[in-house]
Amino acid sequence: MPRVTYHLPDGSFSRVEVNRGQSIMSASIENNLPGIVAECGGSCACATCHVYLSPEYGDIFAEPTEEEVDLIEYLEGSTGESRLSCQLIVGDADREIHVRVADSR
Ligand code: FES
Repeated sequence: MPRVTYHLPDGSFSRVEVNRGQSIMSASIENNLPGIVAECGGSCACATCHVYLSPEYGDIFAEPTEEEVDLIEYLEGSTGESRLSCQLIVGDADREIHVRVADSR
């Protein structure tokens, strides 16, 4: 099962197993992890599931949709590594995936 490590702005982290086909956001919510709020429940409308994803995982996830790009553009603290974690569906990755959860304060 693919594993995802969530790094929080305070330096703490959590590592969980994620089912194939599950999003990075929903795995976080399911495991009651702090940081990812996911107000809209994953419909790419709220941007409270903002994470930073290193380009080294670019081959694992689909490119962002236009909707996602638009939302990220208006986010405070967004960078070229910003993604909405509800749009990051974990596939057959056999290596651990690390994401940095954006500071939502
Ligand atoms: S959960 Fe709302 S945009 Fe991702």
